[in-house]
Amino acid sequence: MLPTLETLEEALGGLEGRRILLRADFNVPLDDNGQITDDFRIRAALPTIRWLTGRSASVVACSHLGRPKGQADHRYSMTAVRERLTQLAEGVELLENLRFDPGEVANDAHFVGRLVEGCDGYVNDAFGASHRAHASVVGPPALLPSAAGRLLAKEVEVLSALRQQPKRPFVAVLGGAKVSDKLGVIEALVEIADEVLIGGGMCFTFLAAQGHSVGESLLQADQIDACAKLLDAGAPIRLPSDIVALTPSETVIQAGLNLEPDWRGLDIGPGTAAEFGDLISQARTVLWNGPMGLFEDARFAAGTKVVAQALSKSRAYTVVGGGDSAAAAREFGLVADMDHVSTGGGASLELLQHGDLVGIQALRESTHTGAGQHG
Ligand code: 3PG
Repeated sequence: MLPTLETLEEALGGLEGRRILLRADFNVPLDDNGQITDDFRIRAALPTIRWLTGRSASVVACSHLGRPKGQADHRYSMTAVRERLTQLAEGVELLENLRFDPGEVANDAHFVGRLVEGCDGYVNDAFGASHRAHASVVGPPALLPSAAGRLLAKEVEVLSALRQQPKRPFVAVLGGAKVSDKLGVIEALVEIADEVLIGGGMCFTFLAAQGHSVGESLLQADQIDACAKLLDAGAPIRLPSDIVALTPSETVIQAGLNLEPDWRGLDIGPGTAAEFGDLISQARTVLWNGPMGLFEDARFAAGTKVVAQALSKSRAYTVVGGGDSAAAAREFGLVADMDHVSTGGGASLELLQHGDLVGIQALRESTHTGAGQHG
């Protein structure tokens, strides 16, 4: 069991005037002028923030933003996030980017000590960062009464249920560029899901493993054997049956599975999209992670859009993994139709793959709430 906000309140004998360190994941996308293009992750932390401030706790929030290399870098300053946070939740303090200090990524004990100084309790609501064994994620639970925030608790509940007791048929739709990033989760999902539908750049390594010529499409030659092994083992994987490709003269072509040497596959074809849409509509649980094509370019957005629309219309329990697929669902205006849109990209994949994350484990093992003793 994860320690909850209520157990923290109890452990501290009330929250009034208590200083609570809140690890959030405010790693939001910024445009070239440093303006936030999507504040989804900030809004997602509001239920926890409001719960804490509603009990008169003083909240000191902290987060990473981007991947600065252990020193101050103005491109990743928290200024824009702080402004937005102040608009949404007054009176919440926000520390500067945790990754400006090398101690964050190194999980340095002194850095943890500085973070928790003057704080009475710790809340982790940074689901998207809870797969990182970084100081602010795994350090404080060993030193302070600690709890999972509402967002973290919900993410864990939804994704664990998907692993453990999905309503069937359970269809997983996976896309994205690199098969190497997803192989672990594919291996886990073929054991759990009834069908694993594969699109996106990574489908070409699978298609190459089946002997198709993929032209100039994304291909990870060193992963072909691993893909072939999965296919040979009879894993319930469905690959595209047609492709939308781009020729060197910028002509967009609906092609079969064997592309000319200088063609580049950039989306699943309409036949595949319709087939994937049908399977989604017959499912009772759907997990979608990763776009089906280069959806940022309107010429290659159709496959991703059909999948997103099929999820939005489906009566299944629908879960969208974080990162690009969540961004696509938002771009198509379909978020409200999904049952759960995760705030974590890498974190949701790791939780699905391993069933646990270092940040969650640290909270469970925190001896300061009593949760550790009860498991
Ligand atoms: C994310 O965007 O997935 C999280 O904020 C984690 O970021 P990271 O991959 O830079 O650790």
